[in-house]
Order: sequence, then structure tokens, then C-alpha cells
Amino acid sequence: MLVAPSILSADFGKLGDEVRAICEAGCDAVHVDVMDGHFVPNMTMGPVVVSAVAAAATAPLDIHLMVENNTFFVDLFAPLKPRYISFHIEEERHPHRLAQYIKSRGISPAIVLNPHTPPQAIELLLPYVDMVLVMSVNPGFAAQSFIDVYDKIKVLKRMIEEVNPECLIEVDGGVNDQNIASLAKVGVDMCVAGSFVFKHKDGYRSAIESLKSACES
Ligand code: DX5
Ligand code: ZN
Repeated sequence: MLVAPSILSADFGKLGDEVRAICEAGCDAVHVDVMDGHFVPNMTMGPVVVSAVAAAATAPLDIHLMVENNTFFVDLFAPLKPRYISFHIEEERHPHRLAQYIKSRGISPAIVLNPHTPPQAIELLLPYVDMVLVMSVNPGFAAQSFIDVYDKIKVLKRMIEEVNPECLIEVDGGVNDQNIASLAKVGVDMCVAGSFVFKHKDGYRSAIESLKSACES
């Protein structure tokens, strides 16, 4: 299981140190939650802050857009060379065009599903994305409780195996050492973990190791 800590739960007073610390602790990607106060009722980071994150990170960036006007934000963040840029299907009128545009900038496109959105909504998009991000909370805030998305992921996994077996499944929201093994079992490749990692009493390395080892048993 790949683990991508969400820096939304980091201490922003020392953001560079926090990013270096999770990278040294063995994270596989740095998850960056971009919120615009329109698509979700919260605001987070723009390109000035995210460029500081990129400068500190030794793991690839996984940028999760929770915004209106996705293309505008893709243009803002593409120069930072993230590994992934993910955008919500609920917001995008031209998801196929945007996925191809992100790919043309040398970045892996990922499509995000809110908890209420069925996997069938992105069926025809699957050949054009490198990852599907399944939200297991309603987007906007860290530290919410996990919503059961197991059956949805099982359906999504079957669809992916048919049309684009290389496409990864990522889950975001309320992931911890109690539910991550079940997520691995239904076919999840990468988990976002915000509060679990940043609030862990034994530190970031133990948090990341406990998530990974829970999937091995
Ligand atoms: C929610 C964000 C998540 C969130 C995860 O809108 O997309 O990435 O920060 O935080 P936890 O793991 O605490 O639910
Ligand atoms: Zn996120």
C-alpha cells in the first residue's frame, strides 16, 4: 500500500520542516489539498505555498483540486511538476479534455469521486486517467469519519481491470490503521492519511509503518 500523507493536517507554521519530515519518514507521495472556498466550504493553499512544499519534498506531489475552474488551477500548479493532479467529476464539464490536457503537461491525470457519486459516472473516462481517487469523506476538511465505500471500490476495481488495469485506486478521508487493510483487500493502491499521520503519538515514521504493516497481515 502506498501512503500519501495530507499536509492539510501539518503544522503550517513550519510547513517545510513538516514536508521534509514525512518524506524522511517514508511516505510515497505528499498529498496537497487545494480548496477554493467555492467547490468546498474551506480554503487552503495557492501556488506560492505549494511551491514551498515542492521545494521541501523529496517524494512526488499528489495535488487534489477541490475547486471551480479546474483548468485555471491546473495551469497554476503544472509548473511545480507534481506526479498527479486530480480533479472532481462533479465539477468538470469537460473531464475528457482536461484529463488529456493534464497528460499533455507531463502530469498523471486522476479523477475524483465524491462519496455520493457512483463509479459508473467515470466509466468512459477510465482509459484516459492514471488514477481514480475515491473520497471516503465529503471533501473540505481533515479529521472527518470514514464513510463506507467498500462496495463502490469493488465495482470500480472490476471496471478498471477491464479497460485500464494500470490505473491506480486511491482513497482519501478518515483512513487509519483500522480500516486500511480492508481497503487493500478491495483493491486500493494508495491511501491518503492526514490526521492519522500528523497526530500520531509515536511520530510520522511509526504512523506510516503502521499503515503499511496493517495491509501485510
Ligand atoms: C478532505 C481532504 C483530505 C483530508 C484527509 O477534503 O481531501 O485529503 O485532508 O484528512 P484525514 O485523513 O484526516 O481524513
Ligand atoms: Zn485530499
